Amino acid sequence: MDITKNMLNQQILAAEKAAGNKMADDIYRQGYHLMPPSGWMNDPNGLCWYKGNYHVFYQHSPLDANRGNIFWGHFTSPDLLNWTQQPTFLYPVDPWDLNGVYSGSALVEDDALYLYYTGNVKYPGDYDYIYEGRGHHVCLAVSKDGITPDSNQLLLSNENYPSDMSCHVRDPKVWKMDGRYYMVLGARTKNDVGELLIFESEDKLHWKHINVIKTPEPLGYMWECPDLFCVDGRWIVMTSPQGMKPHDDVGQNVYSCGYFSLDGDFRGEYTLGAYCELDAGFDFYAPQTFAAPDGRRIMIGWMGMPDADYSNPTTQNLWQHCMSVPRELHWKNGRLTALPVEEISRLRQEKYLFTCQDKISLPMNRFGDIFFYNQSDSLVINIGEDVSIGWKDGILRLMMSKQAGYGRKERILNIKDLKNIRLLLDASSLELFINDGAYVMTSRYYPCKDNGITIHGRGEGVQYQLRPMTIHWAQ
Ligand code: FRU
Repeated sequence: MDITKNMLNQQILAAEKAAGNKMADDIYRQGYHLMPPSGWMNDPNGLCWYKGNYHVFYQHSPLDANRGNIFWGHFTSPDLLNWTQQPTFLYPVDPWDLNGVYSGSALVEDDALYLYYTGNVKYPGDYDYIYEGRGHHVCLAVSKDGITPDSNQLLLSNENYPSDMSCHVRDPKVWKMDGRYYMVLGARTKNDVGELLIFESEDKLHWKHINVIKTPEPLGYMWECPDLFCVDGRWIVMTSPQGMKPHDDVGQNVYSCGYFSLDGDFRGEYTLGAYCELDAGFDFYAPQTFAAPDGRRIMIGWMGMPDADYSNPTTQNLWQHCMSVPRELHWKNGRLTALPVEEISRLRQEKYLFTCQDKISLPMNRFGDIFFYNQSDSLVINIGEDVSIGWKDGILRLMMSKQAGYGRKERILNIKDLKNIRLLLDASSLELFINDGAYVMTSRYYPCKDNGITIHGRGEGVQYQLRPMTIHWAQ
């Protein structure tokens, strides 16, 4: 390790120690969601299966829970349940990434892991850093063992992007298809329109711009963290648009996160279906997908929201944010559905079956996995006095109390017919999967005490207590 990295690594170890000392008394530490050993976590990066392990790299600011310079943190797991913290994978120390090793993705080939990422550089000067003064580079780190990069290089700079682009072009997602390599990049044009750039390569190193994915009418000023994949025979374009105009139940968060179906060919002529949001909760952004060895399309999202006007009390314990549970995606009845991967059910312990005629109280609320098959035309689920989920007249409302929400108040979702709802509850998060995953609401919340769940409605349900997954921390 060179001197600069070594120095940074010493600081990271000290920060992890300080955060580690607070762990024992931290009631908001998650039981089965990946969280950083110290500092700030954002987007999942480089998701893949490589040499017998799942790899989750992530945007990590290890030295500052309120986000300082960005590194790539790293976890591995053979089964999505037993995780090991690996050493910091990328440091912002090369001339092409000095102000952050930003988001990117993994390509597995020839016994090596190719990690494409964005090198962020802010040039000193009086710049706006949108149209001038910023470098957003496509960089490549290659690793044989999947734990340490063997090489790191610059592949593309801003002058290689179309001339109508602002400086904001980032978050490469790369895959192989028909004997070639493809890359999709998120972009903001000089006219403040969000779109995606498609590049093609024959050798993984030299890339040619071949197409643009955009909507007929602009949808926001920037599209971040794109993904392009096929699930159940349906092509999907996923992205996190910024600056979208809110309407009805869409665009309630400061930034959105959603998908289009794509007909035709992303390399040539195509048409996009209507934009659908992936999540209607307070905290879900920048998801990425990958193909598991058994063919499942798995998505993990960042359980956070940039620039939100709500907060997270975990910063007192020197960390902030976590990942969603891994979710399996399918295309069903014209929608993308997302449900927790089957592995999560292996954390289940006691099972409690219940029937609700009118009202029922269930004991604990943390570390719970609860299904409810609804048979009434309105429903209320209260989690202590912290959260209330109400469905009536075709609208589902997720409401948080002042003491548990830290600024989160209400999110709504239009649902005509609520057939079933699954609640995944961890120490400080709540994931709601509605109508077999056709709708999802993901949020952090900070329960005051474990004072149970009350359901008002008619239906049948099952509640499981979950045990935590294991994380082998480096120290
Ligand atoms: C999304 C994002 C990405 C960028 C990264 C930087 O949350 O803004 O576009 O690569 O975070 O941390």
